[in-house]
Amino acid sequence: MSRKVLVTGGCGYIGSHTIVDLLEHGFEVVSVDNLSNSDESALDGIEKITGKRVPNYRVDLCDLAATERIFREHSDIEGIIHFAALKLVGESVEQPLRYFRNNLNSLLNVVDCALRYDVPHFIFSSSCSVYGNATELPVTEETPWQEAESPYARTKQMGEQILRDITRAHGRLNAILLRYFNPAGAHESALIGEAPTNPASNLVPVITETAIGKRPEMVVFGDDYPTRDGSCIRDYIHVMDLANAHTRALQYLMAGRNASNCEVFNVGIGQGVTVLEAIRAFEKVTGRKLNYRIGPRRPGDVVAIYANYDKAERLLGWQPRRNIDDIMRTAWQWEVARTEGVEVARG
Ligand code: NAD
Ligand code: WQD
Repeated sequence: MSRKVLVTGGCGYIGSHTIVDLLEHGFEVVSVDNLSNSDESALDGIEKITGKRVPNYRVDLCDLAATERIFREHSDIEGIIHFAALKLVGESVEQPLRYFRNNLNSLLNVVDCALRYDVPHFIFSSSCSVYGNATELPVTEETPWQEAESPYARTKQMGEQILRDITRAHGRLNAILLRYFNPAGAHESALIGEAPTNPASNLVPVITETAIGKRPEMVVFGDDYPTRDGSCIRDYIHVMDLANAHTRALQYLMAGRNASNCEVFNVGIGQGVTVLEAIRAFEKVTGRKLNYRIGPRRPGDVVAIYANYDKAERLLGWQPRRNIDDIMRTAWQWEVARTEGVEVARG
């Protein structure tokens, strides 16, 4: 019998790709997503890819009673992957209360239900933003945290601390905190990808939206940083590689291979790519020229950050299999597919 997993934020970008990987590894999935930054079309894409329809509960996880009803209905949930959160860094600076309320209340409610309904395994979407302006590169899981650069990043630091304290007090709950670096790209089929309701601000969707003409141009935020070409360095991880890290983390917990009941893993490819290198990769794999100009630095940007992922490789047997070219190719295929979809729908 397949093991049932509750995926929160299952209609979102990383959640939908992870559901595909979970289904392909024999798990049964139930999603809960209030569609505040998504719609249920991701579930259609998942069905086309896997042949399986995943049910979604349109519930705000800040509503404890409504959240609890899902656990009551599915008393056989064995694991939870908690993606649901608001994630716009700039918006969190403007609306900190909304970010703390949404990201922390939803986490507390889901953990509360996990404890009350004896769900033993919990995976949390953390972020490289917990490291702040890291003092050493690449960052390992032991690299000390610096001050959070935004309320969003602080919700991730607090989320990790909440899970550490709760798992310490309740030994029956096992958690893995996955610190994602910069997720990008789409499923090879171009049936699912990043489709936020809010305007995109991350580099890769900005590149593809510019290339397809949704934006007149894009701006490279600074070329006077102390890096090899003056632009910032990040660790771009393909979303399907990231998805697979969740499946492996869950399998690791389910097999009881965890050494403690709260463990943390970096999930990145271990290589830094500059903004200008990312643009060149896009131009190479698509054969299109990108209309970009160099602009001023974006406040709050760190110069460089990339992961050491040795721990995930050693303990989860996880390795990234795709690179920046694969990211750009699949992100572009997805951009083309979803733009054509909109045009077809408009007639
Ligand atoms: P996303 O916005 O595409 O997905 C999150 C989903 O959660 C959305 O579909 C949204 O509707 C839902 N949601 C939000 N609040 C909710 C609530 N209160 N109740 C129910 N559903 C709710 O974002 P994503 O890129 O897939 O990110 C998933 C997780 O990974 C988030 O926790 C995010 O902070 C984290 N993360 C993302 C990145 C990134 O760059 N994408 C990097 C590091 C960490
Ligand atoms: C990447 C690089 C920009 C847009 C954010 C969050 C982080 C994590 C991942 C959630 C930077 C440059 C971008 C543009 C540009 N998310 N850029 N022009 O800021 O590294 O990380 O997403 O946890 O917490 O902060 O990602 O994609 O916005 O930027 O030059 O129009 O691209 O300056 O160097 P970032 P990003």
